Amino acid sequence: MRIGLYGGSFDPIHNGHLSIVRGALRSGAVDLVMVIPTVRNPFKRGKVLSAAPYRYYMVKETIEAEISDPRVIVSDVEFYTEGISYTVNTLRYLTAKEKIFDILTEAGVDERKAREPHEYFWLCGSDILSMFDKWYKAAEIVSIVSLLVASRPGDGIDIDAERIRLNSAFGHEVPLLKFEIEGVEASSSDIRNTGDKTEVPKTAEEFIREHALYGFKDVWEAVDDGTANKFLDYAVALYPILRRKRLLHTLNTGLLSAHYALIHGADVNKALIAGELHDCAKELPEDEQRQMARERSGDLFTDFKLLHSPAGATMAKVKFGIVDEEILDAITYHTTGRGGMTTLDKIVYLADKIEPSRTYTDLTEMRRIAEYDLDGAVRLCLGSVMDKFVKQGREHHPLTNDLARDLGV
Ligand SMILES: [Fe+2]
Ligand SMILES: [Fe+2]
Repeated sequence: MRIGLYGGSFDPIHNGHLSIVRGALRSGAVDLVMVIPTVRNPFKRGKVLSAAPYRYYMVKETIEAEISDPRVIVSDVEFYTEGISYTVNTLRYLTAKEKIFDILTEAGVDERKAREPHEYFWLCGSDILSMFDKWYKAAEIVSIVSLLVASRPGDGIDIDAERIRLNSAFGHEVPLLKFEIEGVEASSSDIRNTGDKTEVPKTAEEFIREHALYGFKDVWEAVDDGTANKFLDYAVALYPILRRKRLLHTLNTGLLSAHYALIHGADVNKALIAGELHDCAKELPEDEQRQMARERSGDLFTDFKLLHSPAGATMAKVKFGIVDEEILDAITYHTTGRGGMTTLDKIVYLADKIEPSRTYTDLTEMRRIAEYDLDGAVRLCLGSVMDKFVKQGREHHPLTNDLARDLGV
């Protein structure tokens, strides 16, 4: 098969990206386009890019809904490659014979076709050509792929002149094909900076709204660089162990916790990490959760639904190297609460219940109050949790009763 690989940050994906994918298929140069959201961008870290799972799911859902063509697949391959996502590393990993076969068949490509020898193209906009020879191991890249360059009317780039320049820079003929696309002018960074969603496809726009994706500028201004990078790395590490909905929920909880920390005077760095890792153990098998819960809290938690909280603290310690007891406590008590909760405990407890994608009940009032009165919001939240328990005939954990007593619920 002739496979077009289209890598990028896609933060967010916009109509210009979709027009490149459509144009490549229309050109007849490729049989299939594989869109590859960059997981660890070599040039942009922490504060500049949204966490990879957000971008991956946004791209996947947008491509599926807006293009809806079996010839276009979205790959999570970079979640499984080590270190910074240099294009050459991704290409080496992806083009290994067994690997590409697995990826294609998993995406529904016929086994016979997936086994054929493949020809690879690197799909890109014409704007990358002027810098392409400076890319990490660019000579190796063009030994694996041909460049398939989208030419947009009026983009002012002379592709033939760039081709001549590249040929002389590499000292040989660089394989390069071009195709025409319609004139969509859009830039992800402009969209992030201005909030203008004119060129954002509807599916992506809904995703951005549902997760308040660009809504935490205050957090990114306040957290330190090391923590921002940890948040991104943990998000990648959580990808294989949490399903879509829970993973996005944990990232949302991290960001909302950090936002509340800024308002209510807790440590923003600790809040970001505690919120992000609070449910990390939730999809482990029950016996593992039980053992890890016992390690953290003895026999304090026995109900299956509660195990993941203390187990999460153990996992945060063992897998993610978190040793800060305030973070570990906030994870341990995020389900039940406890008497004498710290501000950080309350923040993670609350953010877990009301992060932007939560819709189980009308959360408008809790969210409004949480912006200025933490105890008031926790009180309201706890009241609604306790009501639900009473309706379901479930007993409160003694720790929850301690919290209720503290808050006068
Ligand atoms: Fe939880
Ligand atoms: Fe949660």
